Amino acid sequence: MSTLQSPSSTTDLEHLEEDEPSQECKDVDIEKGQLSEYHGFWIPTWSLEGVMASQKQFQARDTDILLVTPPKVGTTWLKAILFALVNRMHHPNLQEHPLLTNLPHALVPILEADMYNKKKVKDLSHASPRLLSTHMPYTLLPTSVKNSTCKIVYVYRNPKDTFVSLWHFMNRVHSTTVSLEEAFDKFCRGMSPFGPYWDHVLSCWKESIDKPARKMIFLKYEEMKEQPTTHLRRLAEFLDCPFSLEEEAKGTVNDILRLCSFDNLSNLEVNKNGRFRIPNHETTLFRQGIDHASFFRQGNTGDWVNYFTPHMTKRLDHIIEEKTYGTGFKF
Ligand code: A3P
Repeated sequence: MSTLQSPSSTTDLEHLEEDEPSQECKDVDIEKGQLSEYHGFWIPTWSLEGVMASQKQFQARDTDILLVTPPKVGTTWLKAILFALVNRMHHPNLQEHPLLTNLPHALVPILEADMYNKKKVKDLSHASPRLLSTHMPYTLLPTSVKNSTCKIVYVYRNPKDTFVSLWHFMNRVHSTTVSLEEAFDKFCRGMSPFGPYWDHVLSCWKESIDKPARKMIFLKYEEMKEQPTTHLRRLAEFLDCPFSLEEEAKGTVNDILRLCSFDNLSNLEVNKNGRFRIPNHETTLFRQGIDHASFFRQGNTGDWVNYFTPHMTKRLDHIIEEKTYGTGFKF
């Protein structure tokens, strides 16, 4: 925990070679949120170039902290928590904290979108540790990440709640009215951003089994909601910045959780009315921007019961059972 990473501290450094996705992937139209199949995963077409560029160019450092998540599992929440946790010495005054005026996504760059987008590379070399995030599954991570001893924080969530959250989000940001049934059918066939969802989770899980020495922590959204203090302490230990006795005594753990809570973040002006743009992305979505509020819907667990029919439950349960069989992993 030595140097601050701030939203305004990144600068465009250099131009990358243009990557041509056409030879390595097969494009398929999926409503407005177009996905491209790439090495067994469905990547949002707009971010494919960034995925490939980061695979080729990104140089991981052993001190990096990389948040790896499938979309809609609580990425925004964990970005807030990680930023507050790692930078807590720099921001002792919670009344003036960067999270009060910035969407968490603006504080933790997304490898494939922010650092490597349309030929621009952002420099985070001054920050240590560097706090980065990606939606790429483990198998697609840059080799330099796999070869480094950087720390990976992996978050996952009940697949049914993940799907419901995704369905709402996609319809909202693309201004579409894709039916629940249609979206569910695609989700079950693996066609979700960075999906198949279960393969995303299992690719990281398998790595943790095959290489127990790999520095990786698994956090489950539902467990974080149920026992936030336990898991925040666990995370701090994992990141080698455990809470001191003094911090424990003055309630730092709860301060961070309150700051990053759904109620607090979703009611901030910046998150109610701001718009999220990724510079240099020419898609309509990123020209218009995504409203910050779309990252904060309910923040609860178990909402799927309000949407799933018995048939949907049976279908997804069957897929999950089949895919996780023999892996030792349980959602
Ligand atoms: P719901 O749609 O179920 O409400 P991601 O950040 O990966 O896109 O995930 C979004 C999900 O996390 C949404 O779930 C969102 O409401 C929830 N979320 C956002 N901020 C949160 C917070 N501070 N605490 C708990 N959940 C949060």
